[in-house]
This record gives sequence, C-alpha cells and structure tokens, in this order.
Amino acid sequence: MPLPKAELHLHIEGTLEPELAFELAARNGVELPYADTGELRKAYEFEDLQTFLNLYYELMTVLRTERDFEDLANAYLARAAAQGVRHAEIFFDPQAHLARGVGMGTVVEGLWRALQHSEPVHGISTRLILCFLRDESAESALETLEAAKPYLDRITGVGLDSAEVGHPPVKFREVYEAAAALGLRRVAHAGEEGPPEYITEALDVLGVERVDHGLRCMEDEQLVARLVRDRIPLTLCPLSNVRLRTVDTLAEHPLPAMLDAGLMCTVNSDDPAYFGGYVGDNFDAVRSSLGLTEERLRELARNSFLASFLEDDEERRAR
Ligand code: ADE
Ligand code: ZN
Repeated sequence: MPLPKAELHLHIEGTLEPELAFELAARNGVELPYADTGELRKAYEFEDLQTFLNLYYELMTVLRTERDFEDLANAYLARAAAQGVRHAEIFFDPQAHLARGVGMGTVVEGLWRALQHSEPVHGISTRLILCFLRDESAESALETLEAAKPYLDRITGVGLDSAEVGHPPVKFREVYEAAAALGLRRVAHAGEEGPPEYITEALDVLGVERVDHGLRCMEDEQLVARLVRDRIPLTLCPLSNVRLRTVDTLAEHPLPAMLDAGLMCTVNSDDPAYFGGYVGDNFDAVRSSLGLTEERLRELARNSFLASFLEDDEERRAR
C-alpha cells in the first residue's frame, strides 16, 4: 500500500503523456513536429527551466476541447490514485490556452468534468489553482483573473509559474491583491531558479501561504529561520529539480538538510509526464537516493495534508 498523501504542486498540463498527446493531436487535427512517441520522448532532455517550458507550451497545443481537458485530468487522477494520492491541488495555466483561442470556460469546465467525479471514482478530493504566467505582463494577469470571475466557485486559489528569473513577484502585486479581495488562496513559485529574495518578496508582497519549490531559501539563513518560525510550507519537486538541473544529482538534493533545519517540506511531482515520475515515484526516489527513514517519509506525507487547503475535518478524512 503506498503511503496516503496529498499532492500540492502539480501542473495539469505537465501530466500530458506522449501517448495522449498523439491521440489528442489526431483527434483535433494538430500536426506535431515529431514522428511518434519515441521521437518525442527523445526531446525530453532539458538544460534548464526554459528549455523544458519550450516543449511544455508546444505540446499543450493539442488541448482544444472540454473533452481534452477532461481526459487529461482523468488520466492524471487514475495514475495519482495508484500512487496513494488522496487529495490533489491542481495548477492550470489558462493564459497558455487563451492565447490559442481556447476559452477559460473550455479549460475550467473540462477539468471540472473530471474533478467532480474524482472522489467517488478515484478516492481523491481536489482543488483548482489558477496560475499566472510570470513571463507575461501584469495586465495580462489582471485580464486573466477577470476572465476567471464566472468560474470562481470552482477555483480555490491563484499561483505564479513559468520563467522565473527576471520576473520578480512584485510585478504581480496588484493581481494578487485583487485575488485576495475575491477570497482566493495564494501560492507562488519562488526560489526554483530565482534568488532567495524572490521567496521573501512572494511572502511580503504577494502574501503567499505556501511557496512552490523554495529550494534556494537554503542560501539565506534568516529566510530559513523565518520559514521555520512561520511554518510556511514548501512544495518541493525532487525529480523536477534533477531534470531541470537545479540540482546536479538526486543524491545532492537538499531535502534532508531542509528537514533537519525544521522546514515544512512536502514532496510533489510538478510535471510528471516530463520529469520521469509521479508523486509516488518522487517518494521512492528520495527514499533510495537520500536514504530518508520511514519516519521522515511519513512526516513528508503528513505535511502534505497539513499544508493543503482542506478544511480540518476534510483533512482528517483524507488522511
Ligand atoms: N510550469 C510548469 N512547470 C513549471 C516549473 N517547474 N516551474 C515554473 N513554471 C512551470
Ligand atoms: Zn511547478
């Protein structure tokens, strides 16, 4: 039996497996510049976040209809359930779809078609988190929030993702203030490739409750002390860090040092179709490469529920 866990850092577009990408390409008459899944998989060699993002945005052009988003989410939920996931807080990137003429309604309603049956079918409760692309303008983020207003009953929070360096959190102050005023929860990617100052800024300026990645906090002792004191959860993604070369090897991942420092860490998959594994695979990888004890692994699983946006009674049931 895999350890029951919550997944808090998962881009639904990053769960698009090559087989489904080709199926949707055929269904929608989209030409992919790869002969087959084998050739596509050969492109999964990344030098950094940007080289990954190039492929991630290219491949998601096969997603066009509500049914496509429903199929994508169902495929993820089935795989996640098999790896012990009981609760998933799912990121989506509407700007990447709006730019291609795919409406907010198509994306949210399509995902919702899968999510509304997730508890009875997969035993997974879910939340949706709308992410703003930080390499797009602040105005575009505000327009995106506006476009999401008819769907706010389906959206729990907002996040910030895409190319980090050169796009500090402060750029998105206004849209995060507007999101907070609408009652949305707030998270942001920070300290994946970007400096520790971006983590501090995400906390101070955007008011985030969780930091996605947050790996580079380890370069700033005072920041670590603050994150420990305030019990700010970090959603770490070990296999992603290796594939995007933010750490050289898994054996050198700072997760054990972060746990020893008292940080509230969780383990997640980020973009599992691209990085060689779903969340259970990330747990297995840190167990074997970092020699984490069973007690540490249970702590990581427990943290995932504590750091989630579940209400207390839901959280107890999910665990
Ligand atoms: N979008 C999808 N995966 C991402 C990651 N790891 N960092 C930033 N943006 C992303
Ligand atoms: Zn991410």
